[in-house]
Amino acid sequence: MKTYTTVLTEMNQRVGLVRLNRPQALNALNAVLMGELMEALLAFDADKNVGAMVITGNEKAFAAGADIKEMADASSVDMFMRDSIAKFDRIRQVTKPIIAAVSGWCLGGGNELAMSCDMIVASETARFGQPEITIGVIPGAGGTQRLSKMVGKAIAMEMVLNNRTLTAEEALRHGLVNRIVPVERYLDEALSLAAEVAERAPLAIRLGKEAVNQAFDSFLTEGLKDERRAFYFLFSSQDQKEGMAAFIEKRKPEWKGV
Ligand code: CAA
Repeated sequence: MKTYTTVLTEMNQRVGLVRLNRPQALNALNAVLMGELMEALLAFDADKNVGAMVITGNEKAFAAGADIKEMADASSVDMFMRDSIAKFDRIRQVTKPIIAAVSGWCLGGGNELAMSCDMIVASETARFGQPEITIGVIPGAGGTQRLSKMVGKAIAMEMVLNNRTLTAEEALRHGLVNRIVPVERYLDEALSLAAEVAERAPLAIRLGKEAVNQAFDSFLTEGLKDERRAFYFLFSSQDQKEGMAAFIEKRKPEWKGV
Protein backbone atom coordinates (compact mmCIF):
# COMPACT_ATOMS: atom_id res chain seq x y z
CA MET A 1 0.00 0.00 0.00
CA LYS A 2 1.31 3.48 -0.88
CA THR A 3 2.35 5.75 1.98
CA TYR A 4 1.24 9.37 2.11
CA THR A 5 2.40 12.38 4.13
CA THR A 6 -0.95 13.78 5.34
CA VAL A 7 -3.21 10.74 5.46
CA LEU A 8 -2.74 7.22 6.86
CA THR A 9 -4.34 4.26 5.15
CA GLU A 10 -5.02 0.72 6.31
CA MET A 11 -7.18 -2.26 5.40
CA ASN A 12 -9.56 -3.69 7.96
CA GLN A 13 -11.00 -6.87 6.45
CA ARG A 14 -12.83 -5.56 3.33
CA VAL A 15 -12.90 -1.96 4.55
CA GLY A 16 -10.37 0.65 3.42
CA LEU A 17 -9.70 3.17 6.20
CA VAL A 18 -8.27 6.66 5.55
CA ARG A 19 -7.23 8.78 8.55
CA LEU A 20 -6.70 12.50 8.03
CA ASN A 21 -3.39 13.19 9.71
CA ARG A 22 -2.52 16.86 10.29
CA PRO A 23 -3.36 16.94 14.02
CA GLN A 24 -1.27 20.08 14.61
CA ALA A 25 -3.71 22.01 12.34
CA LEU A 26 -6.88 20.17 13.47
CA ASN A 27 -6.71 18.33 10.13
CA ALA A 28 -7.22 21.53 8.10
CA LEU A 29 -7.66 20.43 4.51
CA ASN A 30 -4.71 21.82 2.57
CA ALA A 31 -4.04 21.04 -1.10
CA VAL A 32 -1.64 18.18 -0.36
CA LEU A 33 -4.06 16.49 2.04
CA MET A 34 -7.00 16.79 -0.36
CA GLY A 35 -4.88 15.37 -3.20
CA GLU A 36 -3.69 12.47 -1.07
CA LEU A 37 -7.14 11.77 0.34
CA MET A 38 -8.66 11.54 -3.13
CA GLU A 39 -5.80 9.40 -4.40
CA ALA A 40 -6.23 6.98 -1.46
CA LEU A 41 -10.01 6.77 -1.95
CA LEU A 42 -9.71 6.14 -5.68
CA ALA A 43 -7.06 3.46 -5.04
CA PHE A 44 -9.42 1.68 -2.60
CA ASP A 45 -12.23 2.09 -5.11
CA ALA A 46 -10.15 0.28 -7.73
CA ASP A 47 -9.13 -2.55 -5.35
CA LYS A 48 -11.38 -5.60 -5.66
CA ASN A 49 -10.61 -6.60 -2.06
CA VAL A 50 -12.29 -3.42 -0.80
CA GLY A 51 -16.09 -3.27 -0.43
CA ALA A 52 -16.49 0.02 1.47
CA MET A 53 -14.41 2.84 2.94
CA VAL A 54 -14.22 4.90 6.12
CA ILE A 55 -12.75 8.40 6.41
CA THR A 56 -11.87 9.60 9.90
CA GLY A 57 -9.80 12.20 11.73
CA ASN A 58 -8.97 11.96 15.42
CA GLU A 59 -10.99 12.38 18.61
CA LYS A 60 -10.44 16.15 18.71
CA ALA A 61 -11.14 16.95 15.07
CA PHE A 62 -12.51 15.31 11.98
CA ALA A 63 -11.36 18.46 10.14
CA ALA A 64 -11.58 22.18 11.00
CA GLY A 65 -12.11 23.26 7.39
CA ALA A 66 -10.06 24.31 4.41
CA ASP A 67 -6.58 25.53 5.32
CA ILE A 68 -7.03 29.24 6.04
CA LYS A 69 -3.27 29.91 6.10
CA GLU A 70 -2.91 28.47 2.61
CA MET A 71 -5.57 30.73 1.07
CA ALA A 72 -5.56 33.91 3.21
CA ASP A 73 -3.50 35.95 0.73
CA ALA A 74 -5.00 34.59 -2.50
CA SER A 75 -6.90 36.75 -5.00
CA SER A 76 -10.11 35.66 -6.72
CA VAL A 77 -8.08 34.90 -9.84
CA ASP A 78 -5.61 32.79 -7.83
CA MET A 79 -8.49 30.85 -6.28
CA PHE A 80 -10.26 30.40 -9.61
CA MET A 81 -7.08 29.23 -11.35
CA ARG A 82 -6.02 26.92 -8.48
CA ASP A 83 -9.60 25.62 -8.24
CA SER A 84 -8.58 23.53 -5.25
CA ILE A 85 -12.23 22.74 -4.58
CA ALA A 86 -12.22 20.66 -7.79
CA LYS A 87 -10.44 18.07 -5.62
CA PHE A 88 -13.65 17.73 -3.58
CA ASP A 89 -15.47 16.76 -6.80
CA ARG A 90 -13.35 13.67 -7.21
CA ILE A 91 -15.09 12.07 -4.25
CA ARG A 92 -18.15 11.86 -6.48
CA GLN A 93 -16.24 9.46 -8.75
CA VAL A 94 -15.93 6.91 -5.94
CA THR A 95 -18.40 4.10 -6.65
CA LYS A 96 -18.18 2.21 -3.34
CA PRO A 97 -19.85 3.43 -0.13
CA ILE A 98 -17.90 5.83 2.08
CA ILE A 99 -18.69 6.38 5.75
CA ALA A 100 -17.37 9.40 7.66
CA ALA A 101 -16.45 8.62 11.29
CA VAL A 102 -16.63 12.04 12.96
CA SER A 103 -15.45 13.14 16.39
CA GLY A 104 -14.77 16.67 17.62
CA TRP A 105 -14.67 19.56 15.16
CA CYS A 106 -16.33 19.01 11.81
CA LEU A 107 -16.28 22.51 10.35
CA GLY A 108 -16.33 24.30 6.99
CA GLY A 109 -14.65 22.13 4.37
CA GLY A 110 -14.54 19.35 6.99
CA ASN A 111 -18.32 19.32 7.22
CA GLU A 112 -18.50 19.56 3.42
CA LEU A 113 -16.24 16.50 3.19
CA ALA A 114 -18.37 14.57 5.71
CA MET A 115 -21.52 15.49 3.78
CA SER A 116 -19.90 14.23 0.56
CA CYS A 117 -19.66 10.77 2.17
CA ASP A 118 -22.62 8.39 2.03
CA MET A 119 -23.21 8.05 5.78
CA ILE A 120 -21.93 9.76 8.91
CA VAL A 121 -21.28 8.05 12.26
CA ALA A 122 -20.72 10.67 14.95
CA SER A 123 -19.18 10.49 18.40
CA GLU A 124 -21.04 12.25 21.22
CA THR A 125 -18.43 15.02 21.09
CA ALA A 126 -18.85 15.83 17.38
CA ARG A 127 -19.63 19.47 16.49
CA PHE A 128 -20.82 20.41 13.01
CA GLY A 129 -20.66 23.90 11.53
CA GLN A 130 -20.02 26.19 8.57
CA PRO A 131 -18.06 29.05 10.22
CA GLU A 132 -16.88 30.69 6.98
CA ILE A 133 -18.93 33.83 7.77
CA THR A 134 -16.59 34.51 10.70
CA ILE A 135 -13.63 34.85 8.29
CA GLY A 136 -15.46 36.95 5.67
CA VAL A 137 -16.43 34.25 3.14
CA ILE A 138 -19.09 31.59 2.54
CA PRO A 139 -18.83 27.82 2.21
CA GLY A 140 -17.34 26.89 -1.16
CA ALA A 141 -17.35 23.11 -1.39
CA GLY A 142 -21.03 22.24 -1.16
CA GLY A 143 -21.77 23.71 2.28
CA THR A 144 -24.68 25.84 1.12
CA GLN A 145 -26.05 23.18 -1.24
CA ARG A 146 -25.79 19.80 0.48
CA LEU A 147 -26.37 21.28 3.93
CA SER A 148 -29.67 22.92 2.90
CA LYS A 149 -30.93 19.64 1.51
CA MET A 150 -29.83 17.64 4.53
CA VAL A 151 -30.90 19.85 7.44
CA GLY A 152 -33.47 22.12 5.74
CA LYS A 153 -33.45 25.87 5.09
CA ALA A 154 -34.04 27.12 8.65
CA ILE A 155 -31.04 25.42 10.24
CA ALA A 156 -28.85 25.85 7.15
CA MET A 157 -29.42 29.63 7.22
CA GLU A 158 -28.44 29.81 10.89
CA MET A 159 -25.33 27.77 10.26
CA VAL A 160 -24.20 29.68 7.15
CA LEU A 161 -25.23 33.19 8.25
CA ASN A 162 -24.64 33.03 11.99
CA ASN A 163 -22.08 30.28 12.63
CA ARG A 164 -24.53 28.06 14.51
CA THR A 165 -22.83 24.78 15.36
CA LEU A 166 -24.82 21.59 15.85
CA THR A 167 -24.15 19.11 18.61
CA ALA A 168 -24.18 15.43 17.67
CA GLU A 169 -27.73 15.15 19.08
CA GLU A 170 -28.92 18.12 16.99
CA ALA A 171 -27.18 16.75 13.91
CA LEU A 172 -29.01 13.45 14.37
CA ARG A 173 -32.35 15.20 14.88
CA HIS A 174 -31.88 17.31 11.74
CA GLY A 175 -30.86 14.39 9.51
CA LEU A 176 -27.18 15.21 9.11
CA VAL A 177 -25.83 12.02 10.73
CA ASN A 178 -26.88 8.37 10.84
CA ARG A 179 -26.05 7.50 14.43
CA ILE A 180 -24.25 8.70 17.57
CA VAL A 181 -21.99 6.54 19.72
CA PRO A 182 -19.71 7.19 22.70
CA VAL A 183 -16.36 8.63 21.73
CA GLU A 184 -14.49 5.39 22.57
CA ARG A 185 -16.53 3.51 19.98
CA TYR A 186 -17.26 5.84 17.05
CA LEU A 187 -14.53 4.47 14.79
CA ASP A 188 -15.32 0.82 15.59
CA GLU A 189 -18.99 1.51 14.93
CA ALA A 190 -18.20 3.10 11.53
CA LEU A 191 -15.87 0.22 10.65
CA SER A 192 -18.43 -2.40 11.56
CA LEU A 193 -21.18 -0.60 9.60
CA ALA A 194 -18.79 -0.40 6.63
CA ALA A 195 -17.91 -4.10 7.06
CA GLU A 196 -21.61 -5.06 6.89
CA VAL A 197 -22.13 -2.99 3.75
CA ALA A 198 -18.93 -4.42 2.25
CA GLU A 199 -20.38 -7.96 2.44
CA ARG A 200 -23.50 -7.10 0.47
CA ALA A 201 -24.07 -7.66 -3.26
CA PRO A 202 -21.46 -5.39 -4.90
CA LEU A 203 -23.41 -4.54 -8.05
CA ALA A 204 -26.60 -3.69 -6.16
CA ILE A 205 -24.58 -1.61 -3.67
CA ARG A 206 -23.04 0.36 -6.51
CA LEU A 207 -26.37 0.99 -8.21
CA GLY A 208 -28.09 1.73 -4.89
CA LYS A 209 -25.50 4.40 -4.05
CA GLU A 210 -25.81 5.87 -7.51
CA ALA A 211 -29.61 5.94 -7.32
CA VAL A 212 -29.80 7.64 -3.91
CA ASN A 213 -27.22 10.18 -5.07
CA GLN A 214 -29.25 10.77 -8.20
CA ALA A 215 -32.26 11.67 -6.04
CA PHE A 216 -30.11 13.88 -3.81
CA ASP A 217 -27.93 15.42 -6.53
CA SER A 218 -30.58 16.57 -9.00
CA PHE A 219 -29.83 20.23 -9.68
CA LEU A 220 -26.79 19.98 -7.38
CA THR A 221 -24.23 20.47 -10.14
CA GLU A 222 -25.44 23.97 -11.06
CA GLY A 223 -25.74 24.92 -7.40
CA LEU A 224 -22.22 23.76 -6.63
CA LYS A 225 -20.85 25.76 -9.55
CA ASP A 226 -22.59 28.97 -8.45
CA GLU A 227 -21.50 28.48 -4.84
CA ARG A 228 -17.88 27.94 -5.86
CA ARG A 229 -17.84 31.06 -8.06
CA ALA A 230 -19.26 33.14 -5.19
CA PHE A 231 -16.64 31.72 -2.80
CA TYR A 232 -13.79 32.54 -5.21
CA PHE A 233 -15.31 35.98 -5.90
CA LEU A 234 -15.11 36.88 -2.20
CA PHE A 235 -11.31 36.72 -2.44
CA SER A 236 -11.57 40.13 -4.21
CA SER A 237 -12.95 41.67 -1.01
CA GLN A 238 -11.09 43.42 1.79
CA ASP A 239 -13.29 41.58 4.28
CA GLN A 240 -11.92 38.20 3.19
CA LYS A 241 -8.35 39.48 3.69
CA GLU A 242 -9.31 40.99 7.06
CA GLY A 243 -11.28 37.92 8.21
CA MET A 244 -8.56 35.41 7.45
CA ALA A 245 -5.76 37.66 8.73
CA ALA A 246 -7.69 38.15 11.98
CA PHE A 247 -8.05 34.34 12.39
CA ILE A 248 -4.31 33.84 11.86
CA GLU A 249 -3.39 36.76 14.17
CA LYS A 250 -5.91 35.50 16.76
CA ARG A 251 -7.87 38.79 16.97
CA LYS A 252 -11.39 40.03 16.24
CA PRO A 253 -11.97 41.10 12.59
CA GLU A 254 -13.11 44.62 11.65
CA TRP A 255 -15.56 44.38 8.77
CA LYS A 256 -15.69 47.16 6.12
CA GLY A 257 -18.26 45.69 3.74
CA VAL A 258 -15.97 46.03 0.73
N1 CAA B 1 -6.89 26.36 8.67
C1 CAA B 1 -5.61 26.47 9.08
N2 CAA B 1 -5.22 26.26 10.34
C2 CAA B 1 -6.17 25.92 11.24
C3 CAA B 1 -7.53 25.77 10.88
C4 CAA B 1 -7.87 25.99 9.52
N3 CAA B 1 -9.13 25.84 9.08
N4 CAA B 1 -8.24 25.45 11.99
C5 CAA B 1 -7.35 25.37 13.00
N5 CAA B 1 -6.10 25.65 12.56
C6 CAA B 1 -4.84 25.67 13.32
C7 CAA B 1 -4.81 26.92 14.20
O1 CAA B 1 -4.35 28.04 13.47
C8 CAA B 1 -3.83 26.46 15.26
O2 CAA B 1 -2.52 26.55 14.76
P1 CAA B 1 -1.36 27.31 15.64
O3 CAA B 1 -1.21 26.40 16.83
O4 CAA B 1 -0.18 27.27 14.69
O5 CAA B 1 -1.88 28.66 15.98
C9 CAA B 1 -4.15 24.96 15.42
O6 CAA B 1 -4.83 24.58 14.23
C10 CAA B 1 -5.06 24.68 16.60
O7 CAA B 1 -6.22 25.51 16.47
P2 CAA B 1 -6.73 26.51 17.62
O8 CAA B 1 -5.61 26.94 18.48
O9 CAA B 1 -7.56 27.57 16.95
O10 CAA B 1 -7.68 25.47 18.43
P3 CAA B 1 -8.90 25.83 19.38
O11 CAA B 1 -9.22 24.56 20.08
O12 CAA B 1 -8.66 27.05 20.17
O13 CAA B 1 -10.11 26.19 18.36
C11 CAA B 1 -11.47 25.87 16.39
C12 CAA B 1 -10.65 25.21 17.53
C13 CAA B 1 -12.73 26.56 16.99
C14 CAA B 1 -11.90 24.75 15.44
C15 CAA B 1 -10.60 26.94 15.66
O14 CAA B 1 -9.37 26.36 15.30
C16 CAA B 1 -11.22 27.48 14.39
O15 CAA B 1 -12.11 28.33 14.47
N6 CAA B 1 -10.74 27.04 13.21
C17 CAA B 1 -11.14 27.54 11.92
C18 CAA B 1 -12.52 27.03 11.53
C19 CAA B 1 -12.95 27.66 10.21
O16 CAA B 1 -13.13 28.84 10.08
N7 CAA B 1 -13.14 26.78 9.18
C20 CAA B 1 -13.58 27.19 7.86
C21 CAA B 1 -12.39 27.30 6.94
S1 CAA B 1 -12.80 27.98 5.35
C22 CAA B 1 -13.48 26.70 4.48
O17 CAA B 1 -13.56 25.58 4.93
C23 CAA B 1 -13.95 27.08 3.10
C24 CAA B 1 -14.65 26.05 2.33
O18 CAA B 1 -15.86 25.94 2.36
C25 CAA B 1 -13.92 25.20 1.41
